[in-house]
Amino acid sequence: MKQFKIAALAGDGIGPEVMREAIQVLRATEKTFGFKLEITEAAVGWAGIDQAGKALPDATLALCRASDAILFGSVGLPDRDPTIPKEERPERAALLRIRKEFGLFANLRPVHLPKALAHACPLTAERQGGGIDILVVRELTGGMYFGQPKKTEDIPGGRRAIDTMVYTTPEIERIAHVAFQAARLRRKKLTSIDKANVLENGILWREVVTRVGRQYPEVALDHMFVDNAAMQLMLRPTQFDVLLCENMFGDILSDEAAALAGSLGMLPSASLGAASGESTFGFYEPAGGTAPDIAGKNLANPIAQILSAALMLRHSFALHDAAVAIEAAVTTAILAGNRTGDIFNPLEAGARKVGTREMGGAVVAAVHR
Ligand code: IPM
Ligand code: MG
Repeated sequence: MKQFKIAALAGDGIGPEVMREAIQVLRATEKTFGFKLEITEAAVGWAGIDQAGKALPDATLALCRASDAILFGSVGLPDRDPTIPKEERPERAALLRIRKEFGLFANLRPVHLPKALAHACPLTAERQGGGIDILVVRELTGGMYFGQPKKTEDIPGGRRAIDTMVYTTPEIERIAHVAFQAARLRRKKLTSIDKANVLENGILWREVVTRVGRQYPEVALDHMFVDNAAMQLMLRPTQFDVLLCENMFGDILSDEAAALAGSLGMLPSASLGAASGESTFGFYEPAGGTAPDIAGKNLANPIAQILSAALMLRHSFALHDAAVAIEAAVTTAILAGNRTGDIFNPLEAGARKVGTREMGGAVVAAVHR
């Protein structure tokens, strides 16, 4: 029997409650499809600080190293931030650290608006066209997030903050390959995002992506400035198939795209390093945050976490049938009218407002069926 080790790091806010549902869904698939998952939970984020004094405790990092994949919840509680130095806060000390530590340069964020949730999309039916189905491919270990120098210093008359945007040719090449390969399996259209009219980085980005594109003649490539892309996502999102972005542009545009899918609570993500054979070490997390305002109240939408688990089965373990089964079970749960608050509309016929557990339970039931 195939066997895999998973580090489950639920983190803060709604992390633990949505993680619990995702693990139950994984357990249901395990039985149905006959593989074995060794799931070990560990603390991260503020939970790590409270337990072991660090956002990424040594034991948690060791567990990650010994695992085949990381299933991650979310970290960060802005209210507590002022109590510790910025370098020790969960976003930098845990999330960005793991991304860098494991070389997870490719972030895939599939944005898909199910027909049943058309009402949750802020755009008119006309703009939704035949349906919104976009894959955001975001570079995750370069650009402004990590470029040096990065600091705030005193200068005469005030202070000065410096972040540095830096990309090398190989960094752009490897993420471009990921995007072209993904586009080849989809509608074969790639839109590369940059700011080549202003940034040196944008010029190099465009040059390198164009060159890599010659190896993928079956994929139609075009380039778009990031400001225009932000607008086009609102005006005509159906023109997009795969969006290729550097780190910060991808951060921003993926949240914008997620809103099109009805809710951030629906958006899963996979962060991958270099592939080795059929499977790849990966990090899987919902794109939404910790949502402290609704944490612990059985209100959070667990779907992004559940779909992240499906991405893990697909990308890290090559368990394609099981991944498809989870995605289908999510669709079934939605079609049956289950709606957490973020996707609930009282005017929708047949919709029933449910909590985190009920939504998770509905997906589990659909996997068993
Ligand atoms: C994301 C998040 C993170 C990012 C934050 C929490 C550091 O917004 O994964 O999109 O900016 O990458
Ligand atoms: Mg973000």
